Amino acid sequence: MTEIKRKVEEAADSIRPHLKGEQAIGLVLGTGLGGIVDAIEKGVAIPYGDIPHHPVCTAPGHQGRMILGKWAGRSVIALDGRFHLYEGFTPKTISFPIRVLRALGTKMLVISNAAGGLNPNFQAGDLMVISDHINFTGQNPLVGPNEDDWGVRFPDMTEPYNKGLVDLTEKTALKQGIKLHRGVYAAVLGPSLETAAETRFLRIAGADAVGMSTIMEVITAVHAGMDVLAVSVITNVNLPDAYKPAVIEDIIQTAASSGRTLGRLFEKVLEQC
Ligand code: HPA
Repeated sequence: MTEIKRKVEEAADSIRPHLKGEQAIGLVLGTGLGGIVDAIEKGVAIPYGDIPHHPVCTAPGHQGRMILGKWAGRSVIALDGRFHLYEGFTPKTISFPIRVLRALGTKMLVISNAAGGLNPNFQAGDLMVISDHINFTGQNPLVGPNEDDWGVRFPDMTEPYNKGLVDLTEKTALKQGIKLHRGVYAAVLGPSLETAAETRFLRIAGADAVGMSTIMEVITAVHAGMDVLAVSVITNVNLPDAYKPAVIEDIIQTAASSGRTLGRLFEKVLEQC
């Protein structure tokens, strides 16, 4: 067995007894979406540092944790605390928790993030279900020897975001009276925000929103054969011809308030999965 596979298996082995044989849906909670954690009926919260080989978060006082519990009548494992390339984590490190989820039997991954709007029809606070992405990070978690037991060398990317889940999320939003866009997410490395020229370029390239997360996890999940649903909270809108600084405090506050709406949307979607 390769070293990385052994590490993933050891991490999964330490969590498996808490799952009681159930197949859980994976949740990756982005900026401001931590509120969902409070809604989960807690089984157990495992600090990342207690899981063998698992990375820990850089945020002071919050190493991150896996929460196993029930939500919307489903078994879930929430990753409360995530890893970004701009923090210096490698793509392989970012994919580690996703590999662990897959080793635990998870087949569906639900991801949220905060993103800057590029589509001029978007407003701060809107939600966007991701239909496709553009990887502008210049990085990929699958670089290096392929783990054939996990997935193929050249994974297909015609449908990285499960169409059935995208459609279900749109229908559910309509029923719930929640405004929801559908669009393309461009991932950049960060941590510097985009210049006006970069914003113009990303829009011309076909992106509706830009952010600094999600893609490494999605590529890993697709490689592993998981169905992915991802929704962005549009925390600010970047219009290159009327460019204004994005204020990080505003971004976090918008993510938190719209995050509550997104929590409601995810809950209704999960009830139907
Ligand atoms: N750019 C990149 N990432 C982001 C933004 C942005 O404007 N807003 C929230 N995350």
